[in-house]
Amino acid sequence: MSAVPGAHRLTPEAPSVTPETLVGEARRVLANAHAPYSRFPVGAALLAESGRVYLAVNVENASYGLSLCAERSAVFAAVAAGERRFQALAVVTDTAEPTPPCGACRQVLREFVNDLPIYLAARTGEAVTRRLSDLL
Ligand code: THU
Repeated sequence: MSAVPGAHRLTPEAPSVTPETLVGEARRVLANAHAPYSRFPVGAALLAESGRVYLAVNVENASYGLSLCAERSAVFAAVAAGERRFQALAVVTDTAEPTPPCGACRQVLREFVNDLPIYLAARTGEAVTRRLSDLL
């Protein structure tokens, strides 16, 4: 795999990542969350402009302020890989209702994109779509 930015751009013929696929990826990674203090695991799947998907979870610490949200972790991993633009974000929580990203994560996303569809899914059921520009 190359880390060169833009080296894996989707061609027009390539199938795009569907919202269902992105939510499925976030649901899959949710199990890796480290949230023993809040008991609020979060999984995120961030689709970059390159077509690559970056997965992340929230990782907490006994010193709680050192904890990092899933969404921000996904953005930081993507940026480290050379990404700067993003197509969509999926967030899955182990809750009855979908939960939108916190204010800090919204601001971190906004550093790179003006707007973005955000697919929010709970433990079960279909995702709801919000837009970054509406949440901010
Ligand atoms: N958390 C996220 O990962 N994303 C959010 O948008 C909201 C909060 C995490 C942080 C902490 O580990 C736990 O959820 C409870 O706030």
